[in-house]
Amino acid sequence: MSGEIPQYLPGKPLRFLDELQGDPIGMFMNMLEAHGDVCEVKVGHLRGVFLFDPTAVERVLVTNYKNYKTKESRSYGPLQKFLGEGLVTSEGELHLKQRRMLQPAFHKDRIAGFFGSMLKHADQLVEQWRPPAASGELIDVSARVCEMTLAIIGETMFDADLRPDAARIAEAVRAVASRFHWTSTTLIPLAELWPTEKNLEARRAKQYLDEQVHALVERRRGSTGGDDLLGLLIEASAADQVSDTVMGDEVLSMVVAGHETTAVALGWILWLLSTHPLVLEQVEAELETVLGDRPITLDDTRALPVLTRTIQEVLRLYPAVWALAREAKEPDELSGYPIAAGTRVFFSPFAVHRHPKHWENPEGFDPDRFLPERSEGRAKFAYFPFSGGQRKCIGDQFTMLELVTVLATVLREYRFELKEGYQAVPAPNVTLPMRDGLPMRVIARQKRR
Ligand code: HEM
Repeated sequence: MSGEIPQYLPGKPLRFLDELQGDPIGMFMNMLEAHGDVCEVKVGHLRGVFLFDPTAVERVLVTNYKNYKTKESRSYGPLQKFLGEGLVTSEGELHLKQRRMLQPAFHKDRIAGFFGSMLKHADQLVEQWRPPAASGELIDVSARVCEMTLAIIGETMFDADLRPDAARIAEAVRAVASRFHWTSTTLIPLAELWPTEKNLEARRAKQYLDEQVHALVERRRGSTGGDDLLGLLIEASAADQVSDTVMGDEVLSMVVAGHETTAVALGWILWLLSTHPLVLEQVEAELETVLGDRPITLDDTRALPVLTRTIQEVLRLYPAVWALAREAKEPDELSGYPIAAGTRVFFSPFAVHRHPKHWENPEGFDPDRFLPERSEGRAKFAYFPFSGGQRKCIGDQFTMLELVTVLATVLREYRFELKEGYQAVPAPNVTLPMRDGLPMRVIARQKRR
């Protein structure tokens, strides 16, 4: 074991806190530029190690994962207050048990069965925007796609129609998530307990979400079977394998994890395509060649490599879950440096995905970098939008199918024109939405003949 971990902004705790609260993504990128693979921050008694080396990330997530606490770590504490002990925030044996219980809802055959629902909701979005060009009206596309992804999660996981409440649910999730981000980065003790306006708003939002979850569960309770996620939970509850509290936490976790992430990804994809016309033309050409004028099928979703690479590239530049954290239980060694027990480690897919050692022209939008011949030799954890190991996103296949289906459906019909002067600014909380939404005009596409 060698030397001391390089210190980020030594002796400037206020500047660090400023960056952490005001521009956390900028902070990660400054660290990457200043130190490369790893650096450390000490503020009073708090210490954090920031990892940018894919091998170190792999060690924490996979090869030595048993040494790292996930959700009981202090960084995820506030998130646990929001999501309780659902799959996203449970730990240890409970997590393993829950993961095994819920895995069948994400089996590849079941995911394939969700295609019809994803297509239906994508078609409804297309219909919502017809006739599109007539008004030339600006639409906040990010809000509309968020309502759609919520409707898809509701139908596929709970056999429920969340559309009437979609806008309110999405807003409540945003209110609680942004509060979580603030309370997990401030040094103010018990920050979430003060009766400030924002805290009260977050509490009201959480209460509203709890009521929605309760209604979802009660509507199905007493019924047997149903192989969707809620059906599995109800069966487990009837067999006393899961408490009512955990069942509610599970439902809320899936609503939260399963819709805002994909909506955020869709927003960044539509923005990047509208600012990169050559890539857009390639995607459109592929859709015309593969689909012609006929409706899209499940098999088609696996035969659209240009669109798939475009999605992979957007998840590289704007991974919807942009930062992760763990806490070492026992001493370890990462990137050649000693890590003491109790150390908090942070790593950001956003930053590692832009590490110049692993990515050529890291800031450029270049879907072809995911061609097999250009991916050879790349470190495994240079790219991890869905994390990895035991806690890898359970919804990764679901996400890819949803994104391909929705984009193929919408991009066949429309082009999207950004509001003049619009700048896409990431507003990181747990996920990575755009600060000002995504104001666009939806324009009917002239198809090539
Ligand atoms: C663009 C879309 C998505 C991205 C980028 C994403 C990313 C992630 C990441 C990075 C994690 C791991 C967090 C950690 O290691 O601390 C995670 C976990 C999780 N995700 Fe996703 N996710 C997406 C979509 C979804 C969807 C659609 C669902 C559900 C249908 C989902 C459900 C979950 C759940 C339940 C977990 C916790 C898994 C566990 O700890 O066992 N995610 N996701």
